[in-house]
Amino acid sequence: MSSADYLKRMFGLDGLTAVVIGGTGTLGGSFCDALAGAGAHVVVVGRNDEHGHERVRLVQAAGGSAEYFSCDATSRDGLDSLVAHLRAAGREANVLINGAGVNSPTPFLEISEDEWDRILNVNLRGVRLACQVVGKYMLEKGTKGSIINIASVSAGPPLSRVFTYSLSKAAVLNLTQNLAREWATKGIRVNALSPGFFPAEQNRKVLTPDRVENIMRHTPMARFGSPEELAGGILLLASPTAGSFLTGQNLLIDGGFTAMTI
Ligand SMILES: NC(=O)c1ccc[n+]([C@@H]2O[C@H](COP(=O)([O-])OP(=O)(O)OC[C@H]3O[C@@H](n4cnc5c(N)ncnc54)[C@H](O)[C@@H]3O)[C@@H](O)[C@H]2O)c1
Repeated sequence: MSSADYLKRMFGLDGLTAVVIGGTGTLGGSFCDALAGAGAHVVVVGRNDEHGHERVRLVQAAGGSAEYFSCDATSRDGLDSLVAHLRAAGREANVLINGAGVNSPTPFLEISEDEWDRILNVNLRGVRLACQVVGKYMLEKGTKGSIINIASVSAGPPLSRVFTYSLSKAAVLNLTQNLAREWATKGIRVNALSPGFFPAEQNRKVLTPDRVENIMRHTPMARFGSPEELAGGILLLASPTAGSFLTGQNLLIDGGFTAMTI
């Protein structure tokens, strides 16, 4: 077998459909590129139509297959419509990535009810809803599915200035393990991927010069990640072959951030 054939057998996603919620964003966009590059049809899901259509154009320009579905990740009706759309198109949901996220650098005593609700609504409730709605569709179809929840290094020992965001991500890790346990014998694998620091829209306000200096000092590789450096992790977790015995795990891709103290 040639190395190209071997890699295709291990990581190829030909004939499969990947739903990327938050595929409109910086990291989500790179997940779409990776999954389409491995052969999947990608459904880019989000609420920023301009970014969604642009991602489809980029995937198609690279020779991949993609479409955009406009949907708020916190809307059960929206997610129901997404599943109805997949059903009508005769597609299963082989891969689901929960990659929508919002953040805010508010100090603890100033966190308002609105902000608390807004962050938990997208980062936690949205993940739970998509797992329920799309996961139920996977179960109904008997799909050998892979759910990938995007957590963060902030889910571990506390990271300053992202209080609500961090606890939402910690809860996502617990949800991931619990659901992995629940569906382990039903053919659905559930894992988390935790990126380190990657400049994006949601963390623009958090990455002040003094913070960037701190991050670099605490990152053995002493640099930010670039979104395409998450592709290998996404393909491993998504692949029904390479990732077949992987469930309930949290894959950290962070330049060594969580592997050091001082
Ligand atoms: N960038 C990083 O350093 C980093 C680190 C760890 C984890 N993450 C996580 O990675 C994921 C992607 O974030 P990113 O850094 O690419 O940020 P981003 O702001 O570029 O992308 C987030 C996307 O989520 C979408 N979104 C927000 N609320 C939504 C909703 N209610 N419905 C549908 N879409 C919604 C936004 O429109 C945007 O396209 C997030 O879960 C984030 O928490 C990012």
